[in-house]
Amino acid sequence: MIQYRTLKNNLPLTIRSAERSDAEQILAFFNEIGGESENIPFGPGEFGINIDEKITFIDQSIASPTQLVLIAEVSDEIAGMLTFNTSKRPRLQHAGEFGISVRRKYWHIGIGSHLLAYLIDWAKQTRTIRKINLRVRVDNDAAISLYEKYGFTKEGMITRDMSIHGEFIDAYLMGLPIDHSAP
Ligand SMILES: CC(C)(COP(=O)(O)OP(=O)(O)OC[C@H]1O[C@@H](n2cnc3c(N)ncnc32)[C@H](O)[C@@H]1OP(=O)(O)O)[C@@H](O)C(=O)NCCC(=O)NCCS
Repeated sequence: MIQYRTLKNNLPLTIRSAERSDAEQILAFFNEIGGESENIPFGPGEFGINIDEKITFIDQSIASPTQLVLIAEVSDEIAGMLTFNTSKRPRLQHAGEFGISVRRKYWHIGIGSHLLAYLIDWAKQTRTIRKINLRVRVDNDAAISLYEKYGFTKEGMITRDMSIHGEFIDAYLMGLPIDHSAP
């Protein structure tokens, strides 16, 4: 499902699932954003996934009804991404975790909101996903506000989730139940 939206600065936004041909641009995106934010679990050049692994990951997500690799595109450039995964095990397949990132130059114009709204609509349509989880640094106010805006609540906290420059950073576990009204 491709979505077309207009951003707060009036630029057109396209949200779509990743394809094999995006693999190289996706790696460049992650390598770039690793140096733009200390709110994600890797620094510049630390993404640690090569092109073949990325292609395999995209193929798996296309084949799986409970995985999603989303690209937010502005002017043919990857401006943001959201990745959602569940376990394949039947007892765990109803719940998955996502990660989201937007290139710094595109922050605050609504891309994160559009990506998250897409994920929630998609999850409802799967009929399989019943819970969306995430973890976020306790001091990442922008991301926490974004998640709370879409109904996520804090469910727990883990200590020493990341270690950056010798400092341990705690994380909140947040979640959103996905329930369907009767048909
Ligand atoms: C967090 C992130 C994904 C938000 O993306 P974005 O495209 O800037 O988000 P939006 O423009 O849609 O803003 C969404 C909401 O976030 C909140 N928000 C954004 N910036 C904020 C800030 N500086 N302070 C407080 N709240 C903020 C607001 O609630 C906003 O909603 P509103 O515009 O209706 O007021 C983006 O900043 C990012 O990629 N950061 C680095 C990586 C990261 O932190 N990822 C999340 C890891 S868990």
